[in-house]
Amino acid sequence: MRSDDSRGRLDPWGSNQVFSYEKIFSDFGIEPIENVIGDLPEVPPFIRRRVVIGHRDYGLVVEAMRRGDPFHILTGFMPSGMPHLGHLMVMKEVVWHTNHGGNGYIAIADREAHAVRGLSWEDCRRYAREYLRCLYALGFSGKTYFQSRNEAVKDLAFEASTKVNLSELHAIYGFGPETSLSHPMSVITQVADILYPQVDAGPAPTLVPVGIDQDPHIRLTRDVAHKLLMFTVERRGDLVSVRSKNAPEEALLAVHSAFPHSKRYEGHVDIQDGSLDLVSKRVRAIERAFGGFGFVTPSSTYHIFMPGLQGGKMSSSIPESLFGFQEEDESVKKKVMNALTGGRATLEEQRRLGGEPDRCPIFLLNLFHLIDDDRELDELRRACLQGKLMCGTCKKHTVERVTGFLHDFRERMDMVSHMVEG
Ligand code: TRP
Repeated sequence: MRSDDSRGRLDPWGSNQVFSYEKIFSDFGIEPIENVIGDLPEVPPFIRRRVVIGHRDYGLVVEAMRRGDPFHILTGFMPSGMPHLGHLMVMKEVVWHTNHGGNGYIAIADREAHAVRGLSWEDCRRYAREYLRCLYALGFSGKTYFQSRNEAVKDLAFEASTKVNLSELHAIYGFGPETSLSHPMSVITQVADILYPQVDAGPAPTLVPVGIDQDPHIRLTRDVAHKLLMFTVERRGDLVSVRSKNAPEEALLAVHSAFPHSKRYEGHVDIQDGSLDLVSKRVRAIERAFGGFGFVTPSSTYHIFMPGLQGGKMSSSIPESLFGFQEEDESVKKKVMNALTGGRATLEEQRRLGGEPDRCPIFLLNLFHLIDDDRELDELRRACLQGKLMCGTCKKHTVERVTGFLHDFRERMDMVSHMVEG
């Protein structure tokens, strides 16, 4: 089954194939990345090259980055097999943001892998080690945890469950009477993962870089984050209005006394001459002081999926579609040399018409992961388009880049093994 089914649902446990990103974006209200690029202090390669193409509220994170304010970055990996090519992009996104001031978190989704994929805890641990070695090898710094061993995440999941009912789960995921209880449990654990940094280190914008298939979880989490708030803060004309959703009376009183130019009414406080931003910050602090969460609605970015080397979907259930980082050189080489390309039927035709790099798995492999220099990538694309570079030669060069990359990466992974416990 495809990730986007005919009923307009996205399936986080389905395949990673997508009919049309544009349609999904407009159906679900995801914004094009273009509308925040101008505000970024530095444009990361994965955005420049349009690998990351959509977002929800990424502007909050960009703003924090610009001001040097705290922000969190979190993603999760399900340890249901060895990490591979398909995981590398999200890892790079996380590392880029931790290098640009983000407070990093990695969730190992062992509960999900155990419940949904039936893996033993032992296997989860073994695979998790590999994911973590990859992340540290790429330069990750921050916290990492296993879902099954994080008491705060489990408590938060329980708290979050008070705000979700079965018909919402049906609407979002298509869960029905036959659905195993482990699915909603995994879902609510992921909601807790995404909110956890703000419980652990205080309210702040939180970025969750994911593939589009994970958007149902993002939507649900944003909804839960909002429902768990004690107050809503909004601008009404020239006033900023703080409304209690379920705040204790004393908390509302505290808001009133925090702002000299405020008026208290039944269930809300209106503030004159307040900036929305400052009031929100203050109110969050008050909410925390009274035992609330004060969540900032989490943000997300969406990347496109790399096609499998054979041209179909990239999936660990199709070995020739990808390679692992610990795979033998010979096997990797074979997969790359046998890959589908954007080449033409005959050499003559290719010289005349040029290749089609933008739909070529080999070109995209270079674009995603192998060529850092924009000029070099551009030259490759141009030579292909002009019919000057044939697929055989291009593949040979690509094999060299892949082996170079893998050797270097494995060496780095070995160097960071000590950072991974157990
Ligand atoms: N469900 C995700 C996957 O299948 C893994 C995951 C768990 C995750 N918790 C997360 C992803 C939090 C993003 C944020 O890969």
